[in-house]
Amino acid sequence: MRVLTGLQPSGDLHIGNYFGAIKQMIEAQNENEMFMFIANYHAMTSSQDGEKLKQNSLKAAAAFLSLGIDPNKSVFWLQSDVKEIVELYWILSQFTPMGLLERAHSYKDKIAKGLNASHGLFSYPVLMAADILLFNTQIVPVGKDQIQHVEIARDIALKVNNEWGEIFTLPQAKVNEEVAVVVGTDGAKMSKSYQNTIDIFATEKILKKQISSIVTNSTALEEPKDWQNCNVFKIAKLFLNESEQKALQDRYEKGGEGYGHFKMYLNELISTYFNDAKKEYERLLSNPHEIDDVLQMGAKKAKEQAQKTMQKIYDKIGL
Ligand code: ADP
Ligand code: TRP
Repeated sequence: MRVLTGLQPSGDLHIGNYFGAIKQMIEAQNENEMFMFIANYHAMTSSQDGEKLKQNSLKAAAAFLSLGIDPNKSVFWLQSDVKEIVELYWILSQFTPMGLLERAHSYKDKIAKGLNASHGLFSYPVLMAADILLFNTQIVPVGKDQIQHVEIARDIALKVNNEWGEIFTLPQAKVNEEVAVVVGTDGAKMSKSYQNTIDIFATEKILKKQISSIVTNSTALEEPKDWQNCNVFKIAKLFLNESEQKALQDRYEKGGEGYGHFKMYLNELISTYFNDAKKEYERLLSNPHEIDDVLQMGAKKAKEQAQKTMQKIYDKIGL
């Protein structure tokens, strides 16, 4: 299957992103033809600070590479290195009814949150449709908030195909229902907008601070503790196999250890799990040319596919 996903270069990745999305992406590389890119054009809708965008794109690329995106298995590039995307975006705009975009929840939500109602933000789904359709994508793995965008891409593809024949593959959104929501330090869904995250690439000091802020109850140290409703346990579980989970449950039930001990254990689990990725992340960031080379190699492969699609369209639109 041809699977495509765009990754926003916005902020630091947290363990909710990892267990909710990245881990599955890494695993999917073995069975699918994966196309993955850093969506820096999309990020411009929320910030136009060039230096920040450049840095964030570099950091995002380093993060995904160090966590296991393999540029030899997957096509991995920086969105803006394949300019055909914006060209297709404009052509697709001619096939996009205003009403289709006016119904987009994501746009309405962002306006409600105070973002400027710019044309860029409004037409964001058309750019996303271009990303998807340019590469003959079959499957787009998404969080629930992005399903409508994939449906918009499909609607646009149908309109074009009706007019010009079978140009585009019809994409399908795939939501991974099996993935459990990872809780944040306050027990709500972990999300950068709630400031309750535990970040994958945090320094030791920040990691410690984030873990110590996990909300627990006030059961006394010597008392048995309720692991089922404990946020520390819920997070630690992600890193443990069945027998390790059982061992931790026993420690809770036995009493004699406080939440501080469990938090220390969680700290160790997280540090160990991401230790190699963290080292690789730091190494890549101090060798930005290496990141550029990898992205350029990906862009070259992506461009080949993009040009094939554009060739079919140039004729039709008179270019
Ligand atoms: P955030 O809520 O921090 O802004 P994003 O919306 O950027 O995160 O999510 C990026 C990806 O990570 C999506 O696929 C989303 O489903 C997944 N994800 C984010 N937070 C969680 C979470 N707490 N549990 C599981 N998956 C998550
Ligand atoms: N809009 C997506 C998000 O906010 C990112 C994205 C851009 C994307 N283009 C895409 C996702 C194409 C899937 C396919 O997460």
